[in-house]
Amino acid sequence: MTASTRTPTTGLPASAARHLLLNMTPNGSLGTEGENLFVIQRGHGPYVDDTDGRRYIDGLSGLYCCQLGYSYAPEFAEAADKQLRELCFSPLWSASAHPTAIELAERLARIAPAGIEHTFFSGGGAEAVETAWKIARRYHSLRGDTGRVKAIARRGAYHGLTVGALSLTDDPGLREPYGPAAIDTRFTANTNRFGLPAEYADDATYSAHLLAELEAEILAEGPDSIAMLIAEPVQNRGGCITPPTGYWEGLRALADRYGFLLAADEVITAFGRLGEWFGGDRYGARPDIITVAKGITAGYAPMGATLVSDHVVDVINRPGAVLNHGYTFAGHPLSAAIALRSLEIIERDGILDHVRGQQDHLQARMNALTALPIVGDVRGTGFFYACELSGDLDGGGFSDRARTELVAGLIPRRLREAGLLARVYNRDAPLVQIAPPLVSDRQLLDRIAQIIADALEEASARL
Ligand SMILES: Cc1ncc(COP(=O)(O)O)c(C=O)c1O
Repeated sequence: MTASTRTPTTGLPASAARHLLLNMTPNGSLGTEGENLFVIQRGHGPYVDDTDGRRYIDGLSGLYCCQLGYSYAPEFAEAADKQLRELCFSPLWSASAHPTAIELAERLARIAPAGIEHTFFSGGGAEAVETAWKIARRYHSLRGDTGRVKAIARRGAYHGLTVGALSLTDDPGLREPYGPAAIDTRFTANTNRFGLPAEYADDATYSAHLLAELEAEILAEGPDSIAMLIAEPVQNRGGCITPPTGYWEGLRALADRYGFLLAADEVITAFGRLGEWFGGDRYGARPDIITVAKGITAGYAPMGATLVSDHVVDVINRPGAVLNHGYTFAGHPLSAAIALRSLEIIERDGILDHVRGQQDHLQARMNALTALPIVGDVRGTGFFYACELSGDLDGGGFSDRARTELVAGLIPRRLREAGLLARVYNRDAPLVQIAPPLVSDRQLLDRIAQIIADALEEASARL
């Protein structure tokens, strides 16, 4: 064994800069002492504390995971303790299972939309998405439809970063360094109507337009070549993009007409984020497959899952058919026990009702931000909102100066100084986004909206 010849580091940031590779981070820019790193040490209720003891409202619930905030630890610890003492691990592999995964699959079947009663577990969102794709391919090929090799996803959408899920993620900057996509994917319009002609303010007109465009794309591509369409009920990337009424019904009709499977990626929108067990419930979605992760365990353990409808399972479970797909840690007993406890708490503590009860208030507070010159649009629903920023150039774009000083500088700095963790995207269309813990009360939601308003008001004055 070779020992490190480096001098031992002191302090967490310096140690991180030496030893830890962060996700989606220019790791070389953390500074040799890790001076640009933010280390979060503790959580309480909807707050987190950094290593210097500064407290922040976790306006993003971790990364859309911590639905219940951080104060249910004793209950989760009790569930974990019980599970680990009974059975720490057993795989869901080769006709073997364990009681906790079975119980969780049954529980998910009870809350899932009608006709979806089967679950394939995985370790996180991207794995759940890849499972959806493999199940879709398997479904078609078992039916003799072997030419269905293409997927449709939506422009600007994010479905994960593993090689398969990355193919469905519409971000050339993320995909290109890794060569040709593993899945042949076509991208169709998302449902962002900001900046579109006024006629699209009408839901029926906009839905009809989007669905007609999609149908034309399907026909041009060859309907028999499409295996699956994947879409989020509310698209996260691009800023909480809600669908117009009738859109999800239209997707269902196209899937039925042309024989492809419809997958709802609910990695962010499930488990209360939109005030429903599944965000698609709010929009009349009737998908064949649902992918979940993040909030399924409220962030207390890692887990992903792919929920599959009975008619698809009837095909993939045909006698002799093997689903050659799996992950060693799929449905890990610890994660399954935590997920069960989380679903129990959400139900017991009326979390969905709480979101439904507060959502109009949050919506009103967020919509009020449109009065600020720097705010172009406010979108979202439930406890999930984004402001699209409008800059100093004609048409709403940002000059280099405004982008550097305001989007990359002042706005994130002021939010952090005021004690709010929110997401500030510095993209073509810059965004400020929140997804607060579902346990946030009205006073906290007001505080979040006020901090954003103060930062954006100051930025407006400097546009
Ligand atoms: C909609 C959606 N799908 C899939 C993923 C991938 O999830 P994971 O990071 O757990 O692989 C994400 C992650 O943010 C997501 O937002």
